[in-house]
Amino acid sequence: MSRLAVYPGSFDPLTNGHVDIITRGARLFDRIVVAVLVNAQKAPLFTMDERVAIARQVFQDHPNVEVDTFDGLLVDYVERRQAPVIVRGLRAVSDFEVEFQMALMNQRLNGRIDTIFMMPAEQYTYISSRMIKEVASLGGTVHGLVPDIVEQKLREKFAGGGRAGGRGQS
Ligand code: PNS
Repeated sequence: MSRLAVYPGSFDPLTNGHVDIITRGARLFDRIVVAVLVNAQKAPLFTMDERVAIARQVFQDHPNVEVDTFDGLLVDYVERRQAPVIVRGLRAVSDFEVEFQMALMNQRLNGRIDTIFMMPAEQYTYISSRMIKEVASLGGTVHGLVPDIVEQKLREKFAGGGRAGGRGQS
């Protein structure tokens, strides 16, 4: 039986922390689906198409990494994909509480699906998409913290100086 995992998130934008988790997941599972949330209530900096295109480009040489979008309840998407596992990254204790709540809510909604937490490499434990956007918007360098394509797109978005979009989480 093929082991499929879903790694959901906003990915606004994809960071090297996300890339690290996806790469680790791709080694553990036969296939990992990077599931980009479509209808985030927060106003994203990157459009859905940009977020999907970036992830597809970064993982173009990884045949067992798929990039897809989802809307509505995560467990409904995961069930539709017939995946038994949700992967989430845990960076620090501060992530734990909200992740714990989310995992238990998802377990209550669908007891057949389990959440597995993975730790990124140490050097990525302090990176968040929110912080990346803030630093980039204020002219700081995010080199080495995000894929090159993301760094380039951030530069374009903030070329005129000032902020070009919202402050999503994670
Ligand atoms: O990268 P993020 O923003 O931390 O990802 C959060 C995400 C997309 C995994 C979460 O918001 C989610 O699953 N949203 C879909 C709605 C849902 O299923 N909610 C109930 C579970 S808490």
